[in-house]
Amino acid sequence: MPDRVVDFYDRHPISEAQVLAAVARRRGGVDGALTADELFDFDQDHYGGLDAVDALARCAGVTARSRVLDVCAGLGGPARFLASRRGCRVVGLELHPGRAAGGARLTRLVGLAGRVAAIRGDATALPFAAGAFDACLSQEALLHVEPKLAVLAECHRVLVPGGRLAFTDWVARPGLGDREREQLWAWMAATTLQTLDGYRALLGRAGFGAVEAEDLSDAWRPILRARLAMFRAMRADTVARLGEARFGEYDRLYAFFVDLVEAGKLGGGRFTATR
Ligand SMILES: C[S@@+](CC[C@H](N)C(=O)[O-])C[C@H]1O[C@@H](n2cnc3c(N)ncnc32)[C@H](O)[C@@H]1O
Repeated sequence: MPDRVVDFYDRHPISEAQVLAAVARRRGGVDGALTADELFDFDQDHYGGLDAVDALARCAGVTARSRVLDVCAGLGGPARFLASRRGCRVVGLELHPGRAAGGARLTRLVGLAGRVAAIRGDATALPFAAGAFDACLSQEALLHVEPKLAVLAECHRVLVPGGRLAFTDWVARPGLGDREREQLWAWMAATTLQTLDGYRALLGRAGFGAVEAEDLSDAWRPILRARLAMFRAMRADTVARLGEARFGEYDRLYAFFVDLVEAGKLGGGRFTATR
């Protein structure tokens, strides 16, 4: 199962190299120290950008004193944003070796290594002690994990009593067919997609209380249309790094995904729960 996820992100248009190339293009070179702020337009691999990270941090009650775990942290963009804006310490846990290592390099480059750590690992078996964190966050990642209950139970274990979990993820809506689920698995490594109620139930089974689920589907439609346009605008970079065929393939799969969201068969949810 994780192999398909690693393969998907091996051939993903967003990468450490692409982030650095985009920053260099914008600032007209790579000379001089980089700041975390210069990365933020490029290193967030979720929907809704920095506002979405802020909203999750509010839901989880993150303060400067919080020990935060970002589950499935990608290139560490949200972790760096939280550390730089809120002053908290963040550990980013990421399955993909290149993304975990690339995230660590980007963090060092912008001088945040004292507050942001990147750990390679699997969200279904968190390599942390019980009660090690005050908040767990995750964005657009649990869609890739088949045993979602295992991840939620692990978040429950590593949170202190009273600690909060806040995450956003794809949610299945009425009309999402088996054939479409199979395509999403084959093309985007998306599996066992939950409904809003399905996630509510899983959070309860994982031991969480005060569960809240918010439907983000309407808000995500324009965001995802813009994201498709963004990937299309990255054509030259993607072709140079991954080839014309992968650019075309990614374009087709992302358009398929966005069409499902437009059709109301797939949407998004934000979930908040307390240990
Ligand atoms: C869409 S990206 C989101 C990255 C990051 N949350 C962000 O917002 O920029 C999903 C990430 O989840 C990671 N991932 C998927 N399954 C995982 C697992 N079982 N354990 C840890 N990370 C995982 C992928 O490798 C990928 O980097």
